[in-house]
Amino acid sequence: MRDFDENNITAAVIDRFKNTPDPRLKQIVTSLVKHLHDFVRDVELTEDEWGNAIAFLTRTGQICTDKRQEFILLSDTLGVSMLVDAINHRFAEGATETTVLGPFYVQNPPEKELGADIHGALKGEPLYVDGSILSDDGKPVANAVIDVWHSDSDGFYDVQVAELTEPTLRARFHSDAQGRFRFWSILPRYYPIPYDGTVGDMLKATARHPYRPAHVHFMIMAPGHEKLVTHLFVDGDQYLDTDAVFAVKNSLIRDFTHESPGVAPDGTKMDKPWRRLHNDFVLSKAAAKKSAPAA
Ligand code: BEZ
Ligand code: FE
Repeated sequence: MRDFDENNITAAVIDRFKNTPDPRLKQIVTSLVKHLHDFVRDVELTEDEWGNAIAFLTRTGQICTDKRQEFILLSDTLGVSMLVDAINHRFAEGATETTVLGPFYVQNPPEKELGADIHGALKGEPLYVDGSILSDDGKPVANAVIDVWHSDSDGFYDVQVAELTEPTLRARFHSDAQGRFRFWSILPRYYPIPYDGTVGDMLKATARHPYRPAHVHFMIMAPGHEKLVTHLFVDGDQYLDTDAVFAVKNSLIRDFTHESPGVAPDGTKMDKPWRRLHNDFVLSKAAAKKSAPAA
C-alpha cells in the first residue's frame, strides 16, 4: 500500500506488525501506535514541537547513569508509575496499599537489630517506629524482611549528602517471632524530587512544584506473600494533596504522634519530646490478587 494520509497511516502501521510472533508484544505495539497516532492527530503536533519532544527525550536519556534514572522520574511525574503500581497490586481486601519505590532505595541496606537507632549523627526530632507485620488472615508474620529508608530533617536522603559516607536513615530489620518490629530514627521532612534535569524543566514549564510530602519508605518481604513497597506519610504535611509523583493514598497517612519526655515503649528514657509512628502492615498472600475493578 502507498499514498498514506493522516488518517489511513495508522491502520497501515498496525498492519505492518501483524506477524509479531509474541501475542502480548503484538497487543502492546498495536495499542501504542493507535494511541500515539491519535495523540499526534489530537494536538496537531507541529514539526517544531516534534523536534522539541525528541530533544527532550534525548536529554532525558543522556542524564541517566547507573545512579540516576530520569526516565523513571518522568514516569513518576506523569503518573504512569502509580498507574502501573495500581494495575499490578490488586491486593486482598484489608492488605496495606502500595505506592512508588522512588530513586533512593539502595539494595541490601545494613542489617540492624530490632530497636536500633538509624539516624547516625544527624540532628532531628527523635522518632520511634513500631508495629507488626500481619498476613491478610490476621496472623503475625515472623522473620519478615523489613527495609526502611527516609529523608532527614532537611529533606535529603543519605545518598544526596556528600559528607555522609555510611548508610544513614536506612536499614534492614527482621520481624520477631510475634511479627513485631521497632526502631528509632528522626522525623523526615518534605523534599523536592531531583529537578535539575529534564523532569525539572517539564515541571517548571507547566507551573508544577517538585515537592513530595514527608514520609517513611518500607519494603516488606515474606515467603508466601506479595512484596509490599509502600510509604507512611506524615499527617498534616502541606504537600499531601499535591505530591509531585501522585503517590499519596489516604490509607497510608499516619499521625506521627507527639510524645512527652518519659519512658518510650522499648524502655528508652527520653528527656525531650519525641514522635511515634505506630503501624501494623498487612501483607497480601501471594495467591490473593484481585482482578481489575469495574471502571
Ligand atoms: C521518593 O519518595 O523517594 C521518590 C519517589 C518518586 C520520585 C522521587 C522520589
Ligand atoms: Fe521518598
